[in-house]
Amino acid sequence: MNVNGKPYRTIWLKDGDLKTVQIIDQRHLPHQFVIENITTVAQMATAIKDMHVRGAGLIGAAAGFGMYLAMIEAAVNSMSQDIDAFLQKAGEILKATRPTAVNLEWAVNRQLKGLLSEKIVNNKIDVAYQTALNIADEDAAHCKQIGNYGLSIIQDAYELKKQQPVNILTHCNAGWLAFVDYGSATAPLYAAHDQGIKIHVWVDETRPRNQGARLTAWELGQHGIPHTVITDNAGGHLMQHGLVDMVITGTDRTTSSGDVCNKIGTYLKALAAHDNQIPFYVALPSSSFDWQMKDGLSSIPIEERNQDEVRTIQGLNNNEIKQVLLTPEFSPAANYAFDVTPARLVTQLITERGICAADEESIRLLFPDRVATSDS
Ligand code: MRU
Repeated sequence: MNVNGKPYRTIWLKDGDLKTVQIIDQRHLPHQFVIENITTVAQMATAIKDMHVRGAGLIGAAAGFGMYLAMIEAAVNSMSQDIDAFLQKAGEILKATRPTAVNLEWAVNRQLKGLLSEKIVNNKIDVAYQTALNIADEDAAHCKQIGNYGLSIIQDAYELKKQQPVNILTHCNAGWLAFVDYGSATAPLYAAHDQGIKIHVWVDETRPRNQGARLTAWELGQHGIPHTVITDNAGGHLMQHGLVDMVITGTDRTTSSGDVCNKIGTYLKALAAHDNQIPFYVALPSSSFDWQMKDGLSSIPIEERNQDEVRTIQGLNNNEIKQVLLTPEFSPAANYAFDVTPARLVTQLITERGICAADEESIRLLFPDRVATSDS
């Protein structure tokens, strides 16, 4: 997508330097656009853990490139027979950085499967390189397809409203910044806008890290999409007053029976949408399905992050990004990063293969080739 008119992805190999991965360091957005160089798997692990990069698809792509960097390090340090042990350790370190988004584990397992079955060092480097690029390219292609399928839903709503703007509410950032390109929840929005369909997006600010206010608002603005940032608690009120036509969110992990884990607060939006008969869609590439898990509530690990993310808030002051304390110094805080929306509250899933109901049978009909294996 475009930044000041120039097309970017969120992660790529540096021009002319195959040993350096470049990322957009999202901690500085929307106020500064910073590109960071990553040259080791340890740096990539830090970038994921400390959220220089974040969002399900991008975490997966970052893990893919992280394993590629690990392979280069192993070869440069001529670890010979220790290479596989080093790669496995690197995979463990990457997987431990963020527990909830399944894309991370999926990408590491995909790299390891190819790498451990290849014995010649140069071939291993080729496999790691190609797999990292494939994961990134597929992520972008799948999100583009999600846009094409999701477009039909928005188009129908637009016709039903006699070509009045369609009001769509979204939570957190499931935009191109959360993937390699296009985004999941935002892909249908970009597709609709590009087709001349009038839309307006309600952007939940998404405390504590404000991915909505900082990232979704920024990327929608870069693409010229009308939007309004709202407090996390405003959605229910807007729905009661007919100001929301549909909700579209992303997901960090969706079970094979359609339970959706997403940024904390998503469940409350789904409840409010259900109470107001407003369709609640979840957009996801197949890499965000956990084919082995059924019951999301009891099985999905929910990341708990540092309480200071709740106790403080970041913003721009006199042209400097500052962190300020919100709470009394002595008040502890709890920081649950995700929640689970049960499948019964999800109207439909929008995937790269089409749209389906959020239930096991419908998901299987769309993905009959996916069996529950450790690397699926
Ligand atoms: O903690 P984050 O920013 O990595 O959370 C992920 C998200 O951005 C959201 O939960 C998003 O809606 C799903 S990821 C595409």
